[in-house]
Amino acid sequence: MDKKLILAIETSCDETAAAVIKNGNEILSNIVASQIESHKRFGGVVPEIASRHHVEQITVIIEEAMKEANVTYNDLSAIAVTEGPGLVGALLIGVNAAKALAFAHSLPLIGVHHIAGHIYANQLITDLSFPLMTLVVSGGHTELVYMKEHGSFEVIGETRDDAVGEAYDKVARTLNLPYPGGPHIDRLAASGEASIDLPRAWLEPDSYDFSFSGLKSAVINTLHNAKQKGIEISKEDLAASFQESVIEVLVEKSKRAATEYDVKQFLVAGGVAANKGLREKLKEQFTELGIELVIPPLYLCTDNAAMIGAAAFVHLEKQQFTSYTLNGNPGLDL
Ligand code: KG4
Ligand code: ZN
Repeated sequence: MDKKLILAIETSCDETAAAVIKNGNEILSNIVASQIESHKRFGGVVPEIASRHHVEQITVIIEEAMKEANVTYNDLSAIAVTEGPGLVGALLIGVNAAKALAFAHSLPLIGVHHIAGHIYANQLITDLSFPLMTLVVSGGHTELVYMKEHGSFEVIGETRDDAVGEAYDKVARTLNLPYPGGPHIDRLAASGEASIDLPRAWLEPDSYDFSFSGLKSAVINTLHNAKQKGIEISKEDLAASFQESVIEVLVEKSKRAATEYDVKQFLVAGGVAANKGLREKLKEQFTELGIELVIPPLYLCTDNAAMIGAAAFVHLEKQQFTSYTLNGNPGLDL
């Protein structure tokens, strides 16, 4: 067969998504139904509401992905789905849809780790060259992941408390910005001055781990103290100072990891990879280092199913399939 087509499904959080991917790197369709509007008024994702929306949307989204790609189930080589981590009720909707379709059409099933998906979003824009390092920055994860070959993931550092996206969303909520707060802080930061002194959590000198809860508390305390003293603090300056602290630590640890592990490529993955400040700083610093930097376009940074199809292709090539008894696993390890 000269072309291998995968239908991929992603429902781990608040996006119902389906995509058809050719040969692991070509997007034939990539449909994402965001639920952000439904969760906004609660200031975060409500798991029960997320599951209900997935149930309503999943069939329509899959049909749309198949139609836009102009393929039938006979054309497919496999069906892939995010198996975890994520919200268990949300994962189950995608997993059950994938299992039912795979069974009905006698197709192999491939369970994919959500973070492997975020990493493989980069394969949709370029060929991966090993060894490589990835900075994973999303709402649930902050990790440096070393890969010596396809499908091999070594987490060399991770957050000890909040994920970076989580810190963005919590700080945004304190500033009365809508959910998800990351893009709003990013925008405010662009017009502010990083003039407020905030901490940087470097941890032990040789550690690749991260910590963002102290920084988040420092921002909240700064606002609280100013309010008590009746001092007006510029939201723009606070956003810029918070963002500078986050980016400084992320970029420094990324550079050190890329150099120490002598990688050919450095990838960025996850929703926070959409951050303008982070993208600019990484570009500047990796150009200086002379290491190839790959950052997906914005629509491939946040949750989507195209990235799940790209990651699944590695399993398809090795004929590594998942049993039809697959279950959603909210705590799945990479
Ligand atoms: O990867 P993702 O779509 O979902 C998870 O798997 O978590 O990431 C969502 C996170 C949210 O916390 C959101 O605020 C953050 O990505 N985010 C951003 C930006 N765009 C999205 N954070 C900072 N700056 C942005 N421009
Ligand atoms: Zn994600």
